[in-house]
Amino acid sequence: MKISVLSELAPSQLSHAAALPLCTEDISTDAPLPGLPKDIAKGVREWVQHTGFNANAREFSLCTLHTPRGRLDIFLLGCGPRPALHAGILRVAGGRAAMEARRLAINNVDLFLSHSERFANPKPWVRAFTTGFIEGTYHIRKSANAKPSALSIKALRIVTGSKSQLVIARDESVRGAEIGGTINRIRDIANRPGNEAPPRVIARESQKIAKSCGLKYSAWNRAELKRQRCNSILAVAQGSKEEPYLIQLTYPGRKRKLPPLVVVGKTITFDTGGISLKPGKNMEWMKFDKSGGMAVLAFMSLVGAVLKPDRPVIGLLAAAENMPGSTATRPGDVITSRNGKTIEIINTDAEGRLVLADALDVASGLNPACIIDFATLTGAALVALGRQVSAIMSNHAELSESLQKAGERTGDRLWPLPLYPEYAHLLNSPFADVKNIGDGTAGTIIGGMFLKAFVKPGIPWAHIDLTSAWEERPTSHGPAGATLFGAALLAEWLDSKGPETT
Ligand code: BES
Ligand code: ZN
Ligand code: ZN
Repeated sequence: MKISVLSELAPSQLSHAAALPLCTEDISTDAPLPGLPKDIAKGVREWVQHTGFNANAREFSLCTLHTPRGRLDIFLLGCGPRPALHAGILRVAGGRAAMEARRLAINNVDLFLSHSERFANPKPWVRAFTTGFIEGTYHIRKSANAKPSALSIKALRIVTGSKSQLVIARDESVRGAEIGGTINRIRDIANRPGNEAPPRVIARESQKIAKSCGLKYSAWNRAELKRQRCNSILAVAQGSKEEPYLIQLTYPGRKRKLPPLVVVGKTITFDTGGISLKPGKNMEWMKFDKSGGMAVLAFMSLVGAVLKPDRPVIGLLAAAENMPGSTATRPGDVITSRNGKTIEIINTDAEGRLVLADALDVASGLNPACIIDFATLTGAALVALGRQVSAIMSNHAELSESLQKAGERTGDRLWPLPLYPEYAHLLNSPFADVKNIGDGTAGTIIGGMFLKAFVKPGIPWAHIDLTSAWEERPTSHGPAGATLFGAALLAEWLDSKGPETT
């Protein structure tokens, strides 16, 4: 798709579709919408009055005008009141615009930002809209030889209304397209079911991505994990015939001596629960229990191909399949994890924290500037927060706040939960240093508390418990399946400040 940025567009040059984000304030007066061709501004006004379109966030209306130049479909994209506007609203609006364009078989779309002072400063709106627009073009390939859809959008033109903002808007649209494009590319891996994407396939795909993005690839297989005493990862994998891997992607950076940023992803390619078997209903969604790792993979691909920071960045994917079987871990088994702590495995379904325990210990040994992990760790996070925001827990207030801010600028939003030391006793075991579950209260926090015990003290660390790593059905703004929540967030965080904040 070709993306271009212009300060204005003569009526004679308009495409057949226009996307028009509108805040409630933009339609609350009778003043004509500035920055739009007169007849279009008038037509939109009349349509808004006629239909009662309120411009609430996520509200959509298709306004079709018949102009002397022909038919024009205008996507009215509600963005809600200005004080509550955040990048996620624009990202969703972008996705919606792309979905509508595809539905109407439209090839060219013009995005207008020129009519609203809210969008006069293109940051972060242009990046968020473009990311969402590209994400909205993604479609799941139902078979390997399925033809690419004929309904492809050829061009997006962004009309800013001001010359002074052109350069920023252009850069932001390029970055948005890179992020959206990378997310879509990794979605092809992330959407694969358990049978098609066991850990060895994730390792192979990671190697391909590394090669194409200039990253160094290495991986520990079962034998190497044994040598490295990663007994916690091995315990999760021991009921499966599929070999576990700890995959490492390294971006060396120009300043190789600087401490690296280390990102870690839970990559359970299928989570049956193990001997603590999950109920059958809805278990199919546990193919997305690799989502943390997939977000890390997308981020690392952006680091190598696009962001290219000075500082080294390392991605770790702790990949295993959690299966029941005669060789599987039993409830009550005690293992010695890589950092020497013994763990009593009460519930084999709390496996994410086990693979992460060893991965965080490996991360701690890399002299990191900071560690950030992503995981579909607890169902409790979804119960507490729903799908609009994921949970963040951290031992470092500044790191946590900078990640939350980056979340607000991308739509990958985060909400903090506390890791008070008073929770720690819930993990006490009479038979080991810790057990892997608490008493059922504060499920998400207990997951965070457990992980904290495996991060070397003094290292700034944040843990993100994902609530919206996948969609179970198509939404107004995108397809069903993996969302790669976290990839855009990390890219924005690294772009703006990164580990400098720590
Ligand atoms: N992968 C699940 C968590 C999960 C479930 C995320 C559903 C998103 C949707 C994780 O491995 C798990 O099973 N966690 C247990 C922890 C419990 C045993 C302490 C859970 O949430 O029930
Ligand atoms: Zn589980
Ligand atoms: Zn899991």
